[in-house]
Amino acid sequence: MSFQTSAGETLDSPTDWLDPDKAIEERIEGILQQLTLEEKAALCHAQGKFSSPGVPRLGIPELWYSDGPHGVRAEINWNNWGYAGWTSDSCTAFPALTCLAASFDPSLALEYGRAIGQEARYRKKDVLLGPGVNIYRTPLNGRNFEYLGEDPCLAAAMVAPYVQGVQENGVAACVKHYALNNQETDRGHIMVEVSQRALHEIYLPAFKAAAQAGAWSFMGAYNQYNGEHCCHNDLLINQILKGRWGWDGVLITDWGGAHDTRQAVFNGLDIEMGTYTNGLTSESAFGYNDYYLADPFLKGIKDGSYPIELLNDKVRRILRLMLRTTLAPRRPLGSFATEAHARTAREIAAAGIVLLKNDKKLLPLSPGLRKIAVIGENATRNLMQGGGSSELKPWRSVTPLQALGLRYPDAEIVYAQGYDSGKAMYSQEGVPTHDPARLHEQAVQAARDAELVIFVGGLNKNHRQDCEAADRKSYELPFGQPELIRDLALVNPRIVVVLLSGNAVESSWAAQVPAIVQGWYGGSEAGNALVDVLSGDVCPSGKLPFSFPEKLGDNAAMSFGSLSYPGDGKRQVYMEDILVGYRWHDTRKIPAAWPFGHGLSYTSFSLGKARLDKKTCQAGEQLTVSVPVSNTGKCRGAQVIQLYVSQPKASVPRPAKELKAFSKIWLDPGESRTVEITVPVDCFAYYDETRQDWHLEAGEYLLRVGTSSTEIHTSLKVSVQ
Ligand code: BGC
Repeated sequence: MSFQTSAGETLDSPTDWLDPDKAIEERIEGILQQLTLEEKAALCHAQGKFSSPGVPRLGIPELWYSDGPHGVRAEINWNNWGYAGWTSDSCTAFPALTCLAASFDPSLALEYGRAIGQEARYRKKDVLLGPGVNIYRTPLNGRNFEYLGEDPCLAAAMVAPYVQGVQENGVAACVKHYALNNQETDRGHIMVEVSQRALHEIYLPAFKAAAQAGAWSFMGAYNQYNGEHCCHNDLLINQILKGRWGWDGVLITDWGGAHDTRQAVFNGLDIEMGTYTNGLTSESAFGYNDYYLADPFLKGIKDGSYPIELLNDKVRRILRLMLRTTLAPRRPLGSFATEAHARTAREIAAAGIVLLKNDKKLLPLSPGLRKIAVIGENATRNLMQGGGSSELKPWRSVTPLQALGLRYPDAEIVYAQGYDSGKAMYSQEGVPTHDPARLHEQAVQAARDAELVIFVGGLNKNHRQDCEAADRKSYELPFGQPELIRDLALVNPRIVVVLLSGNAVESSWAAQVPAIVQGWYGGSEAGNALVDVLSGDVCPSGKLPFSFPEKLGDNAAMSFGSLSYPGDGKRQVYMEDILVGYRWHDTRKIPAAWPFGHGLSYTSFSLGKARLDKKTCQAGEQLTVSVPVSNTGKCRGAQVIQLYVSQPKASVPRPAKELKAFSKIWLDPGESRTVEITVPVDCFAYYDETRQDWHLEAGEYLLRVGTSSTEIHTSLKVSVQ
């Protein structure tokens, strides 16, 4: 028996869709032909907390989802948020995405994606809920640690290889949270008002890069934009993502992000997850059949309120995702919690560590140290716990204190906690369980007696620190750390401050200490990676993926008052517009304490004269900048050459600097190489709101080559005709 598909293809038999040699689009039509309305509608909503149905009658497997984005989360119960208590689900925890971004190394993003994809595959997960690419707008956002920093070019360059690496395993990446979820306060309903220009220039490019890299799924954000929730938002999903960008993937809600059947049907939502249900009832109030895209959808299709084509479009997308994952031929098998993954995690964690300050070359640590005081709660804490949905149960975890002991077996290492966060997790505020004055005093005593002090503090994954569902309350280091650092430095000036965080912190105490390291959340191998860098086994090469303002009010979003952040409870207005991060600091001449792109090394580099391959160019062409770079120091190290573009005389306001490309180069001592950076001239364009499109203005542009957003080595002129 042969039959016609709706795409006009002829299939020999209704089971042709099983043939892996047939093209995916043909197989989709083959399946679609055979599904009942009920089976189709079932595909569009959850059947458990982290699962959505397949087609049992045809043997088409259900889909399994997992957070994301730093490792495969421990198994969750079918109907509630409790952990299922498995003993086979302890994963490799990879470094937080801020750390990955700080590596400025897309090849590491590919390795990251591959490794986490392998873990997801082994755990039989089909959709990995990550990466997160919301732009870092304010240092108070509780979820910045899950994202790729403040710059759209950097985030776009890192997200594409991550997605590709995950999907090589037959596991879909789910890029989140689309879009404008830049704070946790009021995230479920806040109406974000932002100009079209800032939307396209700042907040969408990383999503666009992910879509163009072929991400198989996206997650809608909780907040609202343009009058609609982002999970069923006509402008964001239908017009931009599926329309203008031509994306063929599946739009999944954030858990509980759907609010309306009609909008869900018409505005591009494909799979609804996490809407409230106790799950125990079925076919009745608050069972999965009550989801917006379940019975109400089916009923509307049957009574003609909703066109069947909309259902078919969703189903085609879902079947496409299945044919790429659960139904893919020769799907790799994956691997889980391996030494190889631990090595990858360690390499990335070390590559992202940023040496902020290193006066008198206090670092690397001298090999013969005899007595080290290690101070701070984060030296011993498992920072993979807490933080919300990205929380992980690692199969191994090496703390900084343990790693120092392993690396310096002959040294006497004295530990003092120094401060107490109360170790509260997800849903509580930190309430100290120890006497803070006593902890402080013990730490000062330990510091006084030591040859060198390593303070390991920063933020943590407690509620209102780096944690989902709420924002930070203040910019200062919490739990009395600034006073403690000052007091430690008074008794022992040989002090290294290590900040573990996913956010910038106030750092006026920095003047009192010679060495500062931004260590992020490094995952399973955090301690080893940190000690790799402190010891000099690995030369630090990370660069800041966001600015550290001196004061909170120096941050663009914060400087415009409460309607800008956190909003009035209903709406918020992104008044800084396109001037996010260093774009603000540089254009408004408000210096940051630590600027975007900054990061020191144990070696030194010299940059030769940069050259451009042309003096004039036009749309559609490419430009190549060449810069000779030499390692003039004594150890192997890496420098990140950063290319910033500006248009000094433009018809619209433009930022003083915008990163358009970068390249990380490793060099042996004495080695020189020429770095070539090629950029499309079209990336100099701005988003023109009247044309509703990108516009490349003719005129003169400045290309600045540097090693941070403020360390500019050469400026080159080019004229666009
Ligand atoms: C988070 C998502 C996460 C989902 C599932 C939501 O609360 O915003 O990032 O993937 O839960 O855990």
